[in-house]
This record gives sequence, C-alpha cells and structure tokens, in this order.
Amino acid sequence: METALSSNVRILPDAEAVARTAARIFQSAAAVAIASRGRFSVALSGGSSPQLLYRMLGTAYRENIRWDLTHIFWSDERCVPADHELSNFRLANEALTSRISMPAGNIHRMRGELQPEEAAKDYERDLQTHFRADGFPRFDLVLLGMGSDGHTASLFPGAEAVSEMKRLAVPAYSASAGNWRITLTIPVLNGASLVVFLVTGKAKAGIVVEILAKGKREPYPAGSIIPQHGRIVWLLDSDAASGLQQKSL
Ligand code: 6PG
Repeated sequence: METALSSNVRILPDAEAVARTAARIFQSAAAVAIASRGRFSVALSGGSSPQLLYRMLGTAYRENIRWDLTHIFWSDERCVPADHELSNFRLANEALTSRISMPAGNIHRMRGELQPEEAAKDYERDLQTHFRADGFPRFDLVLLGMGSDGHTASLFPGAEAVSEMKRLAVPAYSASAGNWRITLTIPVLNGASLVVFLVTGKAKAGIVVEILAKGKREPYPAGSIIPQHGRIVWLLDSDAASGLQQKSL
C-alpha cells in the first residue's frame, strides 16, 4: 500500500511499484505538455534506478505516449562513446529509445565522445536551440536518481559544477568512478516544471533521511534540487524509505 508522508514524498512497496508510478507520471506529464504546447521535453536520468521505468515506457506504456512530439534529453552522461557500457544513452537506448519510433532529431544525446568541455558547449547549444522560445531551458519533466553521497545527475558534493549558476551544462569529474561526465546544472534542473526522483534500495536509506527528514541541503546536491516554479516528487521504495518510517517528515 502506498503511503504519502508529505505532499511530495511517496513511498511505494518496491522498485517495480516505483517504476510503475513513474511511468504513469511520465505519461501524464507528456499528455499535459503536448496538450498545452504541442511538445514534451524530458531529461532522463542515468544510473540503474530508472532502468525498469525505461523498459516499461518502451513496452507496456509505449502506445500511451506521443513519442513523435516528445524530445528526450539526458541530465548527465559519462564521457564515453554512445555504445560504451557506461553510457547513459546506451542504457536508455537499449531499454526505451530503440523500441519506439520517434524522429532522430528528437533524441538529444550528450556527445560523450567529445572532449568534456566541447561536449558541454555542444549540449548547451542544443538546449539553447530547443528552448529558444522559452529563453531558458524549461523541461516539462526531469527524472533524477540519487547516489548514497547525495549526488544527483553528475553533481557531486563539493564539486565546482554544483555552484555553476550561469551555464546550462558543464563538465564534471567523478572521483569515485574515476571518469569525466557532462551534467546539466542546478539552474536547469530547478527550471523544470516537474522533477521526479526515483530512489530505491537500502543503500539510499541514510541519505534519504539526511535530505528528506533532516532537510539538509549542504553538502548534498540532491538537496538543492528545488524547482523554482515547478513541483518535485520523490518516489521511494520501502527500503530507501526505511529510515523515514521511524521519523516524521
Ligand atoms: C549517473 C546518474 C547518477 C545516478 C545516481 C544513482 O550518471 O550515474 O545520473 O546521478 O542517478 O548515481 O545511481 P543508481 O540509480 O544506479 O543508484
């Protein structure tokens, strides 16, 4: 049974229920955006948490979404070629974009094969072109995961990229993974109409308490994701929320 501890935190029994709930939110956000502006701009998260969601969107939900009017971006990418095992594009492509028919121009891949700064600049140009009419990127939906250290996208605690408030996308080095990435910046993530975090597993229980029960923003970048004009929803499975159930939000 799903419980709502606060308006924007929803606890689901397991990862499957988290993915299903996220798929319903994705479908609804797409329908609203397309009805009001004729297109749906979404940024996908990397990592393993959203994989089940992507598979659902590419199968059970495939016919429920106007993919021809959907533009898919990424919140971050590792600086590797598109077919590399670490590529967030490859992960989403295998589960989702390879299974749906949508115009090639609607898939906005971060070109991880370029030098980090060149790839970041290239993505900023793509974002500026796509969101030209809005003046600033305003995603209809941003999907995010969170590391047990409180990072999100490729915004790591204490990294320079976290304090970047002007640029749209920047290079970011992951000391733990030992690789360079490209990441959207906090102003872009916070400009979204809707941000949905998918957080599952016991390993995330501690950081979930830090951010959602104690309300800590520092030094956790995920704690700084507070959409200025939009909404945020945290979808947790019971393992990730296990610390919360003894604490009130
Ligand atoms: C990435 C993601 C990253 C991810 C978290 C959680 O490129 O790895 O953008 O921010 O969401 O590290 O990863 P899991 O979902 O695999 O736990």
